[in-house]
Amino acid sequence: ADAIADDLASVLYTPEQIRERVVVLAGQIDKDYAGKDPLLVGVLNGAVMIMADLCRELSIDCEMDWMAVSSYGSGTKSSGVVRFLKDLSVDIHDRHVLVVEDIIDTGLTLSWLLSNLASRQPASLEVAAMFRKPEAVRTTIDCRYIGYDIPNEFVVGYGLDYDGHYRNFKGLGVLRPEVYS
Ligand code: PRP
Ligand code: MN
Ligand code: MG
Repeated sequence: ADAIADDLASVLYTPEQIRERVVVLAGQIDKDYAGKDPLLVGVLNGAVMIMADLCRELSIDCEMDWMAVSSYGSGTKSSGVVRFLKDLSVDIHDRHVLVVEDIIDTGLTLSWLLSNLASRQPASLEVAAMFRKPEAVRTTIDCRYIGYDIPNEFVVGYGLDYDGHYRNFKGLGVLRPEVYS
C-alpha cells in the first residue's frame, strides 16, 4: 500500500471542512430529534466514517444499527442492482429512523433502501448524507440533511472507496483517472 495522496488529483474537502459541516448537521439533528429516541441506521461499508463522527457530535442519545448493501462492487459505475448483504438487527416499527449515508450518487441505493425500510412502518424515516452529486442523481430522494453537494467526479475518502481502497483517507479527494482507467 502506497501513500493515498499520490493517487489523488485534488482534495475537494479537507478533514477540517468535513468536521465543521458535521457539527452543523449534528446541531440540526439534536434539535429535530429531541425527545424522540432516534435510531441511526448506517449503510455499510461507506457510512462508517460519517456515522462515527456524526453520532459523536450529537448531544442527544441515539441508538445505532447497520445494514449492508452494495451496488458498485469493484467498478466506478453503479451496477444498478442493489445487493442486500446484511439486514438490521432491530425492529424499526414505530421508531424514528435516520438513515446515514456517505454519498448519494445515482440515488439508486437509497431509493431501494428507503422503500425497503418504509415497508416496516417506522414512525418517521429521514436521510442524512455527507455528500451528494446533484448532476448524477437519477431518482428523487428526499434527503433532510446534506453535508456538501459535489461535482460529478469519482471521489474517494471519508468512507468512499474505489475497489475497496482509499476509504481511510480523512478528507474527500478526486481519484486520478489513471488509477481506474
Ligand atoms: C456507495 C456509497 C453509497 C452508494 C451511492 O456504496 O457508499 O452507499 O454507493 O451510490 P448510488 O447513489 O449511485 O446508489 P457501494 O455500493 O460502493 O458499497 P460500499 O458502501 O460498501 O462501498
Ligand atoms: Mn455504500
Ligand atoms: Mg463502494
